[in-house]
Amino acid sequence: METKSLNQISCEQVYNIWATEPHLLKIIDLRDRVAFLQGHIPGAQWVPMNHLEKEIDVLGNRLAVMVAPEHLLEELERRCGEAQNCVLLSQCERWAQLKKPLAGNGVEAIVEQYLNKGEAMKNDIIFHQLFDSESSTYTYLIADAKSKEAALIDPVLETVDRDLKLIEELGLRLMYVLDTHIHADHITGAGEIRRRTGVQTAVSKDAQVGCVDIPLEDGQELFLGDKKIHVLATPGHTNTCMTYVFEGRAFTGDALLIRGCGRTDFQQGSSEKLYESVTGKLFQLPDQTIVYPGHDYRGMTSSTIGTEKMHNPRLNERISKAQFQQIMSDLKLANPRKIHEAVPANMACGMPRDHRTFHPQNVDGIPEVSVEDVHSKLSAAAAGNIRLIDVRRPDEFNAEYGHIAGAELVTLGPELTAFLEKGDRSEEIVFICRSGGRSGQATAESQKLGYRFTVNMTGGMIRWNEKKFLVERNKGE
Ligand SMILES: [Fe+2]
Repeated sequence: METKSLNQISCEQVYNIWATEPHLLKIIDLRDRVAFLQGHIPGAQWVPMNHLEKEIDVLGNRLAVMVAPEHLLEELERRCGEAQNCVLLSQCERWAQLKKPLAGNGVEAIVEQYLNKGEAMKNDIIFHQLFDSESSTYTYLIADAKSKEAALIDPVLETVDRDLKLIEELGLRLMYVLDTHIHADHITGAGEIRRRTGVQTAVSKDAQVGCVDIPLEDGQELFLGDKKIHVLATPGHTNTCMTYVFEGRAFTGDALLIRGCGRTDFQQGSSEKLYESVTGKLFQLPDQTIVYPGHDYRGMTSSTIGTEKMHNPRLNERISKAQFQQIMSDLKLANPRKIHEAVPANMACGMPRDHRTFHPQNVDGIPEVSVEDVHSKLSAAAAGNIRLIDVRRPDEFNAEYGHIAGAELVTLGPELTAFLEKGDRSEEIVFICRSGGRSGQATAESQKLGYRFTVNMTGGMIRWNEKKFLVERNKGE
């Protein structure tokens, strides 16, 4: 139907304004609620016809673009009256044909859940926010209280013991470990937790992590009891970022931070994509959705979608895509300290050496193995999979107790410190001394420097000799 008094605007014209100067627009969607939820222009507001005048009153200088079905056009004309800045979007369905992002997909299922369950859905879950002070990373434990099924989001390798203890204390069954993306600032605990518990690990399928159990896709759903974890692809910080939405909480990783967002300058990041992910997807979630980010560096713990829409200085409803891209390109940040270690490790589920030779016992924080264990694995040392580092003095190396064949002498003190400082942190090393004391110190020192697979041989060469295992003594050295 042709309208006489309402000016029409084409999809292309709206798109051009929407993409560059969205603060000049207010898109008012007058279709029925179901049609709106099935897909709408990102940023559009659903308005019932009888509220239209109120919206027009608060337009200010913005252009109101009406999305309306034919049968409402006459009423629309009447209600718009003489308002000069109201236009009708012609042939709205062409928006999709232009391949512009439509909000919808995973998002409307979440909105639907809100409409149906409201506040009640917050009461029957278990939720813990955990923190790693080294990398300022938040790890989240979420669970369905009835079935006790749980998931961990973004665990950190160094805090795996803490997280698993909490799960045990709460009597939960860990079903999934979910990473929001391939992290550059810490090593994921996913692989280590799987090794210990057999849990399934999940990350975006686009990350192409071979060791992952569930490669995730946009719109996928995972269950904890009868409750859903909705998976939303929110690329931009990296090309594989996912947001997980569970019972009114959005775990946004580094896509949306509290009053900020993740950087977009490495790991196939894109400020354009991040803008689209946040405004087109996350900002389409109900305003009261609680935002739990991947990090916070200022002591904040949570926010809401509504608050971030208003107050996020980089991404709020008044900032255009072009402005956002400028902000991001002006940042010029240094690389994270751990990037060269963390990214390759995380591509291997946090376990670059998935087949470790030793499974040490932790004694007072020091991983320890017995002389029998070391003896049975000497072939691994001969094959170069592990290193035997003897930390005694040179005069002890060839004296009474001798040394293990293949052991390298690196004396505890400055020599060992220099050796460790330039070494490969993912190398598997057994430290050896006379009775286990100095090699324990060496193990502790290596772990402080970031070594993850170093162990102490308890009992040292004294025990080794008691067991009558072979020793070497290089005479004349
Ligand atoms: Fe990140």
